[in-house]
Amino acid sequence: MGGSGVDDVAGRVLAAAVGGTEIANIYLGDRLGLYRVLADKGPLTSAELALAAGCDERYTREWLQGQVVSGFVGTTGDDLTVAEFALADGAREVFVDELSPSYMAPLGTAMASAGAMLPALLDAFRTGAGVPYSAYPAGVSAQAALNRPAYANDLIPTWLPAIPGLVERLSDAGQPAVVADLGCGAGWSTIEIARAYPHTRVTGYDGDPASIEEALRHAADEGLADRVAFHRHDLAEPLAQGGVDVAFMFECLHDMGYPDRVLRTARRALGDGGSLIVMDEAVDETLVPASDDIVQRFFANMSPLWCLPQGRDAADMDPVGTVMRPAKLRQLAEAAGFAGTEVLPIEHPFFRFYRLTT
Ligand SMILES: C[S@@+](CC[C@H](N)C(=O)[O-])C[C@H]1O[C@@H](n2cnc3c(N)ncnc32)[C@H](O)[C@@H]1O
Repeated sequence: MGGSGVDDVAGRVLAAAVGGTEIANIYLGDRLGLYRVLADKGPLTSAELALAAGCDERYTREWLQGQVVSGFVGTTGDDLTVAEFALADGAREVFVDELSPSYMAPLGTAMASAGAMLPALLDAFRTGAGVPYSAYPAGVSAQAALNRPAYANDLIPTWLPAIPGLVERLSDAGQPAVVADLGCGAGWSTIEIARAYPHTRVTGYDGDPASIEEALRHAADEGLADRVAFHRHDLAEPLAQGGVDVAFMFECLHDMGYPDRVLRTARRALGDGGSLIVMDEAVDETLVPASDDIVQRFFANMSPLWCLPQGRDAADMDPVGTVMRPAKLRQLAEAAGFAGTEVLPIEHPFFRFYRLTT
């Protein structure tokens, strides 16, 4: 190998290639139900797993070999034709348990979805055009499944109580709070708020019809269809003025094609004294070259594949992209007429929380 710079770059590229192969096999294992069958019925031989999952034994055995080498599956021996296989310790939470805080299987679907869009991205890079969210295969369900565990586990018991005065406002039965979940996607955050605070009037808004359809279905499945409303609405266009006490934007502001107009929509919808809570990526405050922080590398590299193209549906759109630094949000908030922006005392490996005050 060459000098240390060459070795460093080559090492990063090799690690990326390994990650690419592993995430593709995670996609296969998730979508084919291989992890679930192993979790429910393991230990199994490759033939038993293939039969139970409706797959070909030879492909299944080859997949198992990779899973064992990567440490996701354990085995009883090195003759793969007769060995038995079971999920490694911790793998059930990561690959199968949809509400586990460690659930990451949908990353396989998200990365496969981004991969399927690479031909469109070649064109987009050349022309500057966008690639709409609706074109990404299974994009909505992957996005929803990735964030759902955090809403189910953290939103109500941990995040909201860390925001001064918020729980008191949401719990006030005498003056029921009007809550707007802007960019609600498939609605899991909206649903958790409605479930926890029955006096509130909670409405989720999203511009994507498929997301609103999923949100309505989730609310019905959870028995909350009468307690929460969902509307398709392009948030670059105004909502009714005033009347909203608390608005949320969960991991969506950086995706918006017109973040300035969307924040003006939020500011206008909030009554005086209302707050907008923004959850967005916990990106570094400034650019860190050659970062060893894998989360920062994920954010920065996901942006041209997912967030930026999805926010560029029209020529004059100017989305921030995945890397929305705190200084950028402060600038956008001030321009939209918010009186203040504070970073909230909520620690999370992926997200930073802000309160924008009116
Ligand atoms: C990354 S997803 C987050 C969804 C959801 N909050 C969650 O945490 O799963 C971003 C969402 O913003 C929505 N969105 C983007 N631009 C929008 C706009 N102009 N008006 C309304 N929704 C928009 C997308 O449709 C998508 O559902």
